[in-house]
Amino acid sequence: MDKKTLRDIEVGGKRVLVRVDFNVPLDRETGAITDDIRIRAALPTIDYLIGRGATVVLCSHLGRPGGKIVDGLRLAPIGQRLSELLSRPVSVAQECVGPEVEAAVAGLKPGEVLLLENLRFHIEEERNDPAFAQALGRLADIYVNDAFGTMHRAHASTEGVARYLPAVAGFLVEKELDVMGRSLNAPARPFAAIIGGAKVSDKIAVLENILERVDLLLIGGGMASTFLKAQNLGVGRSAIEEDKLGVVAELMERARGKGIRLSLPIDVVVAPSLDADAVARTVSVGEVPADQLIADIGPRTIELFGRELRSCGTVIWNGPMGVFEIAQFARGTRDLVRLVADLEATTIIGGGSTAEAVEEMGLGGKMSHVSTGGGAALEFLEGRTLPGVAVLLDKND
Ligand code: 3PG
Repeated sequence: MDKKTLRDIEVGGKRVLVRVDFNVPLDRETGAITDDIRIRAALPTIDYLIGRGATVVLCSHLGRPGGKIVDGLRLAPIGQRLSELLSRPVSVAQECVGPEVEAAVAGLKPGEVLLLENLRFHIEEERNDPAFAQALGRLADIYVNDAFGTMHRAHASTEGVARYLPAVAGFLVEKELDVMGRSLNAPARPFAAIIGGAKVSDKIAVLENILERVDLLLIGGGMASTFLKAQNLGVGRSAIEEDKLGVVAELMERARGKGIRLSLPIDVVVAPSLDADAVARTVSVGEVPADQLIADIGPRTIELFGRELRSCGTVIWNGPMGVFEIAQFARGTRDLVRLVADLEATTIIGGGSTAEAVEEMGLGGKMSHVSTGGGAALEFLEGRTLPGVAVLLDKND
């Protein structure tokens, strides 16, 4: 990575402001944390700073409170979980900027940890307000960004604050950028990308970028319907993005021209609706009844994808294969998770709902890398420079 990291600066005895992404899912009824992977993912950076006698000031957003205080989105429960994971006390401030927070930071001893209140209780955070960024900057001597999942946002705590403090990457950000960057730029070949998800319009930029790099492209999910339709196959009542048919046809043509093998589903699960109790069945593509919707890929497609992927050196996957939130349409995604987990290849799960499916099945450890970023991973795979990365010190600064 061409950006400075924690290892490149002296942190002992310094006050260090660490932007983490503790935007974790919460149970709607109880408010309990349902998945703490993002908290665990920040531990190497926090442990390193504690071990070197820095005072650690953590900041994060949680949800989208839109500049208002929302009690259900306070960070106190996250502080408690972090304290359990670190096996040491974590104080939680009632605010994220201002004199009281400054006094609390001044009272911290080396190795102590303070978690600030939800940054998005202030609208200035998302507006990247310079005065707010400066107020955050006043809390520390050094700024560390370890919030990979939020690196695509140019907010005060991810971008603005780096203008007021020496700014470096934390270990999670370093790992995410290194692993995904290496896979995109110097992959062990053959290199395959599996792209799924509901809408093709969300993935066009990824497809454009990835077509320059891969040897194989496997398409699934709701977006596959637009590909099938572009090949003049009937897709029943499946949602099609008519205005993207031309782009999709062009992408397929480009793949052919470059000698990239493009695999579309050969069989699909169809149902009259996406209801949990709708009567579903599997049909070959080309035999989708006019009154049915495509909801998942079928078993013959999984077999085909398996044959393609087994010879690969690198596999990147972004986007589920069907409507996996509904059990009867989750099979394609779940079978593919198992298949990818068993591959010999370097396997990268590009965040968001694909990562959720993998972690829910307890197979994260069987992948080479599961990104903690949803939107951030997607923008990285699109080949875009993330604003939170751009603003960090270069290695040779
Ligand atoms: C995420 O969950 O993708 C990040 O925490 C960013 O959250 P946001 O989409 O609300 O900016």
